[in-house]
Amino acid sequence: MSQDEQKALVAREALKHVVEDAVVGVGSGSTVNHFIDALAAIKGRIEGAVAASEASAERLKKHGVRVFDLNAVDELPVYVDGADEITEHLHMVKGGGGALTREKIAAAVAKKFVCICDASKLVGVLGRFPLPVEVIPMARSHVGRELRKLGAHPQLRENYKTDNGNLILDCHGLTILDPPALEAELNNIAGVVTNGIFARRPADVLLLATPQGVQARPRKL
Ligand code: 5RP
Repeated sequence: MSQDEQKALVAREALKHVVEDAVVGVGSGSTVNHFIDALAAIKGRIEGAVAASEASAERLKKHGVRVFDLNAVDELPVYVDGADEITEHLHMVKGGGGALTREKIAAAVAKKFVCICDASKLVGVLGRFPLPVEVIPMARSHVGRELRKLGAHPQLRENYKTDNGNLILDCHGLTILDPPALEAELNNIAGVVTNGIFARRPADVLLLATPQGVQARPRKL
């Protein structure tokens, strides 16, 4: 099975977690694109979706799925999103697609976070994938200096603006041994909007595509 076939498989599996007659939270990325395409087949059984990126909102609308502003929604029973890296504790690095801030907000609202990944995303320690940090433009240099003090090698994502009008610094060279602590520390730097560590609100269940099929891994409490 190719990587793309694995993504499509795990995306279809996530439909089992979607709550009927409710609004579903939808992340972003290529795995989520498969989820959106699968969701279209059951659009008559859900109220609609909240999207974590403009790109996902556009794709949902093209399929005729009603897209709600998060502020118009009282609750989000389920949020489905991919990850760039995930550990067995279901801590993640996200934001490869630049949508980390809206993804983190949607995840914070959701009762259940279902992460959908192919097997290449499962790692022992986070950090090999460059950690995205969303930064207010005027704080770019200051945040870069602070990140270097923490041992990171930040690189400005070229010709890129987030959906919120901000910049992304991709941090190379980190070995993230305590994800919740580093997540909080980075968010304390003035000018950081948020960073791509999702550990203080981890996923609740990982659906992991393997060549043998999909494994469901609930978070161990
Ligand atoms: C976007 C994300 C995505 O979930 C992450 O990049 C995974 O994407 P893909 O499914 O394309 O591998 O965090 O900001």
